[in-house]
Order: sequence, then C-alpha cells, then structure tokens
Amino acid sequence: MEVVHNGEMFSESAKPVPAANARPLAAAVNDGAVQVPPFVKAYFMQHFVAALYSTPQNFNPNPKWASPLKDPENSRVWCTDCHKDAQLNFANMPTIEKNPMIAQVEKNKAFMADLMRKWVARLNSDQFDAKIKLKHPVDCLTCHETNPAPDR
Ligand code: HEC
Ligand code: HEC
Repeated sequence: MEVVHNGEMFSESAKPVPAANARPLAAAVNDGAVQVPPFVKAYFMQHFVAALYSTPQNFNPNPKWASPLKDPENSRVWCTDCHKDAQLNFANMPTIEKNPMIAQVEKNKAFMADLMRKWVARLNSDQFDAKIKLKHPVDCLTCHETNPAPDR
C-alpha cells in the first residue's frame, strides 16, 4: 500500500506479477489465498459503482436490473463515500483496464463473493455516506440474476 501515498498514478503503482509467476499465482488465486493488489480491487470497485447506474458487467446480470439509487441521473456514489481514510489518491485514479491478472481474480468466486459482501454491507450501512442515496437496501440479486455464492 505504501506506493499509493505519494500521488503517483495509481495504474503505475502496482504492476501485475511477471509471467514466470503465472502458475503459482493461479494456484494461490484458486485457493482464495492470494494477496490481491489494490489496483485489482480498484478495478472491481469501479465496476461495482458503475453497476449502480447501468446494467452490471458481471457474468450473469439481473435481466430486470434497475438502479437502486433515488436519483440515478444526478446523484453520485463516490469512492470517498466508503473510503474515508484518504490513503488512496482517488482524484488521480484513471479508469483501470482489465488485464490477465484481473481476469483471473474475477473467476475466483470465494474472493469475489467476500469482496462483494463487504462492499454491499458498507453500501447499506449508516456508518457510510452511500446509504442515503439509495431507494432501498441493495442485495446480491439487485445486480446478479441468481445468487452467485449460494454456498454461504
Ligand atoms: C459501498 C462502499 C464502497 C465504495 C463506494 C467503494 N469502495 Fe473500495 N472498498 C470497499 C470495501 C468494503 C473494501 C474492502 C476492504 C477490505 O478488504 O477489508 C474496499 C477496498 C478497496 C481497495 C483495496 C484497498 C486495500 O487496502 O487493498 C481499493 C484500492 C478500493 N477499494 C478503491 C475504491 C475505488 C477506486 C472506489 C471508487 C471507484 C471505491 N473503492 C468505492 C468499499 C467501497
Ligand atoms: C451494485 C451491483 C452489485 C451488487 C449489489 C452485487 N454485485 Fe457482485 N458483481 C457486480 C459486478 C459489476 C461484478 C463484475 C466485476 C468485474 O469483474 O468487473 C460482480 C462480480 C461478482 C462475482 C464474480 C463473478 C461475476 O459474476 O462476475 C461474484 C462471485 C459476485 N459478484 C458476488 C456477489 C455477491 C455474493 C453479492 C451480494 C453480497 C453481490 N455480488 C452483489 C455487481 C454487483
């Protein structure tokens, strides 16, 4: 996390591991034990937030998706609604493009479901600033056609 403190462009701050590490990485990702770098999480965050405004870009989006926001035209959920610590340089953050590492993490259901549970909990929480912008509490089926992690 150190690198993102100094105003460096976020996309430059964490490079994917070299190809030589691809196999151990695949194994670790499948275990759910991998250390996922912040820029990968930021990629997902950008897509989660976008899914409050437009059809979610997940594998199996809810065909009846509708924005859960009271005012999807004018109101915005900001990164800083949930990230108060200002450790991340949100102002300079570019749109993060998908790369092979992201594509691999995306298939790790355990990791993704865990990240999503925490994200949704914060979205619906009085402790954070997004909740007042919602029409109703959000759950997995707001954006996914079927529960993507029914095993928990
Ligand atoms: C609804 C709440 C919410 C919003 C909005 C949100 N995040 Fe997050 N973010 C989270 C949660 C929850 C985590 C996971 C924290 C954890 O793993 O303990 C997280 C983690 C992260 C991390 C990883 C931090 C680390 O230490 O590894 C990054 C980077 C990040 N978010 C960036 C963003 C960006 C960029 C945006 C805006 C596009 C954003 N977040 C919007 C809730 C949110
Ligand atoms: C606001 C919309 C939204 C909500 C609510 C939501 N998700 Fe997601 N979810 C997404 C998006 C968008 C992606 C794709 C992220 C990417 O890969 O770009 C995703 C991806 C996933 C994935 C990876 C597989 C896939 O379909 O891409 C899993 C697993 C997942 N979500 C589980 C959950 C669970 C469990 C919940 C409830 C706790 C949940 N999600 C709630 C939008 C949402």
